[in-house]
Order: sequence, then structure tokens, then C-alpha cells
Amino acid sequence: MSTRESISDTGLVGREAELASLTSALDAACELGPCLVVLTGDAGVGKSRLAREIASRARTRGMITLQGDCVELSGGEIPYGPLAAAIRELDADVMAEVVEELPAAARRQLARAFPGLPFASDSMGLAGDELTQAELFGWLLLFLGGVSSSVPLLVTIEDVQWADASTRDFLLFLSQQMRSERLCVLATLRSNELSAEHPVRPMVERLASQRSRSAARVGSVVTSRCGAARARHPGRAASARVHAAPV
Ligand SMILES: Nc1ncnc2c1ncn2[C@@H]1O[C@H](COP(=O)(O)OP(=O)(O)O)[C@@H](O)[C@H]1O
Ligand SMILES: [Mg+2]
Repeated sequence: MSTRESISDTGLVGREAELASLTSALDAACELGPCLVVLTGDAGVGKSRLAREIASRARTRGMITLQGDCVELSGGEIPYGPLAAAIRELDADVMAEVVEELPAAARRQLARAFPGLPFASDSMGLAGDELTQAELFGWLLLFLGGVSSSVPLLVTIEDVQWADASTRDFLLFLSQQMRSERLCVLATLRSNELSAEHPVRPMVERLASQRSRSAARVGSVVTSRCGAARARHPGRAASARVHAAPV
């Protein structure tokens, strides 16, 4: 049992449609190419439980699973907080092997953006030209691609309604730039109580428009919506709307 699983995780009730959709996203990531899944639903409806089930199934398939949780802060934000937390879960040997393969410029830039993570060695100076956010995102994608080169990867980002601006931007970047990585990104989103001005709205709307417009520039963007309050009424059939865009 992984640290995220608990005794309450025994006996997932229902959710067959969502499980089918999400496991097919895992299969796609393993065989066809990357995908980004946004799992939306009201608070308490069962998003995290479903995400844990999918992570468990991913591990059964031999995938590496990483998770970072977005947290609601009373003020300010921590850039890349959930991504840093997810990367921190990576096995140290795998981390070292993948980092070793990165160009020195990538290692320096990632070390600056992710203080505390072993992107750069002690002897490696961190000085260098400031890169644009797009360049940093490119290095980060190269890193994730490196992790997934031998073993497919599931990265779960929980509660993106609280994601910092850098993480939101990176998710959008991924949706446009992922190509051949064996990577599935699963983001959960508490979709009730999102005001019109909520900062996560533009990201969600852009992801939705990419999905409906064309998947040509996107590995695959899938939006899976959790339906009825399964957690509160585990005996009831869940309703679900699932949209998937082929590659
Ligand atoms: N399909 C399910 N079967 C059994 N228990 C569930 C199911 N979905 C949710 N639960 C339980 O209901 C509670 C709330 O679910 P959670 O996944 O935390 O909701 P959310 O992340 O959407 O806020 C948790 O205790 C969870 O284990
Ligand atoms: Mg949750």
C-alpha cells in the first residue's frame, strides 16, 4: 500500500465510466503518446479517490507515479509548488540518471527554478543568462520526457483550482507541446465555487477550446467530469460526462 492509499481506499464504489476513460488515457500514454486529463467535479464528489485508483492502476501497469498537491495559501503563492513536490517523489537514482543526460544549461535553469531539487551538482555554478519561461518549460518537458523514456509516467496534480500561475502556465504549455513523451498528466479541479474571475478559469477554458478545436498540436487532451456525489451516495449510479480528443 503506497503512502497515499488508506484503509478507506478499499472498495471503490462505481465509477466504471470514469475508470474506463482514465485507464484508456493511461494506455494511450504508454503506447500512443502523451495526454493531459482534467478531472473536474464538486468538492467531496470523489476526484481524489478516483485519482488514487488510477495511480494504483498505473503502478500495476509498471508506470512511475508522482503526485503534487496544490494548496490554498492565505497570501502569495509558491511558483511550481506542486510540480516540485511531484518531482521530489522521484526515485533518487532515476532522478540522477535523467538529470545527468540534460544539457548543463537546462540543469542550471531548473536548479534555479526548483531550489532544493538535485538538478545541479554543487560544483556547477548557477549563474547564467536568464531564460524565458518558455525555455524553462522546454527544459522541464525535456526532463519529464527523460523520466518517461524508459518507464511511462503518470503525474497527478491535485486541486489545480489552487495552482500557482507558473504551474497553470506549464499545464497549458504541456497541452500544446507534448509530442512523444510517454506521459499522462492528471489534474483534478474542484469546479464548484469557481467565480468568473477565478485565475484558473482561463487555463480551463483554453484547454477546453484546444480540445474542441483541434488535437493536432496536442498529444491528447481529455476532460473527464465526475458526476453525482458518489462519495455521499455510494450506492447510486454515477453520471459522468467524458470527452476525449484523439491524437
Ligand atoms: N467511488 C467511491 N467509492 C468509495 N468511496 C469513495 C468514492 N469516491 C469517494 N469516496 C470517499 O468519499 C470521500 C470524499 O472523496 P474525495 O475523493 O476526497 O473527494 P474530492 O477529492 O472530490 O473532494 C473520501 O473519503 C473518499 O474515500
Ligand atoms: Mg480531493
